Amino acid sequence: MKLLKGEILKNEKYGENLYKMEIFSPYICRNAGAGQFISIKCSKEKIFDPILRRPFSIYDIEKEFNVFSILYLVKGRGTYSLSLLKKGEIVDFIGPLGNPITFNKNSNDYLLIGGGIGIAPLYLVAKVLTREKKNILFIAGFKNSDFAGIEKDLIKNKVYYNIFTEDGSYGNSGLATDFIKENINKYKKYQFYCCGPVDMLKVLQEIFLGKKISATAIVEQRMACGIGACMSCAIGIKNEDGEIVYKRVCKDGPSFNIMEVIFD
Ligand SMILES: Cc1cc2nc3c(=O)[nH]c(=O)nc-3n(C[C@H](O)[C@H](O)[C@H](O)COP(=O)(O)OP(=O)(O)OC[C@H]3O[C@@H](n4cnc5c(N)ncnc54)[C@H](O)[C@@H]3O)c2cc1C
Ligand code: FES
Repeated sequence: MKLLKGEILKNEKYGENLYKMEIFSPYICRNAGAGQFISIKCSKEKIFDPILRRPFSIYDIEKEFNVFSILYLVKGRGTYSLSLLKKGEIVDFIGPLGNPITFNKNSNDYLLIGGGIGIAPLYLVAKVLTREKKNILFIAGFKNSDFAGIEKDLIKNKVYYNIFTEDGSYGNSGLATDFIKENINKYKKYQFYCCGPVDMLKVLQEIFLGKKISATAIVEQRMACGIGACMSCAIGIKNEDGEIVYKRVCKDGPSFNIMEVIFD
């Protein structure tokens, strides 16, 4: 993990309030893995408002070009400032943060479930596994067609996917979690990776309960330091003995066994 600066190569609008930013960084491309994130200073140089850096999953790594990207939704001041940045400007960030996902080399079948902006870390997971010739299905669920822009990336990397929208304006109509519920027996030998809103992760916990499914959740808790020093991102984890221990999402995660996470 390092404090870095990187040139913005692109800051492209991908949908309503959705942007993909490409950043030149040989260090991140050499050292980061799927499931990790960076923490960006969203204000301009010498300006400290907002003072806290904002965390973003690594969406893609293109090692051959020394370029990585983040996919972000404009939510408040920090992300709005990011959306104004132009090609050629420099961003200040820390990374890679958190732990990369370690895949079970013996498994061939993977089911990825992303809800909303929760698809961001899963896209790189999907790309890595597709390149390793694993059998994957990427289920992405959105409220509406605002995320349609990501489809071109999935197609480019030959990821096998299925999109659901709640309003039926794009892809299949309905909830991604309903699809999982209806088809769980077909996929229960798969390795699951999930990221999305807490409500979605709670529904998945209910679906998986008692089924001996191997499922990892990438958790996106609000953070302050991002490096393990402040405990602001702590979440309760129920260990095998039923004891509740507190873990830092930024340092111990962000990936956890979904069945052990206590979602508030
Ligand atoms: C490990 C990690 C990875 C993340 N990856 C991505 C990503 O790839 N793309 C992306 O768009 N966002 C991601 N997020 C969320 C992102 O960090 C927040 O949306 C961002 O910090 C908001 O900053 P802001 O200044 O624009 O909004 P603020 O003014 O800080 O907040 C605006 C609104 O966003 C909500 N919000 C802020 N932080 C979070 C959060 N962590 N989770 C849910 N809601 C939040 C607030 O409750 C508030 O309603 C990630 C968060 C974490 C912890
Ligand atoms: S954000 Fe400070 S310990 Fe995780």
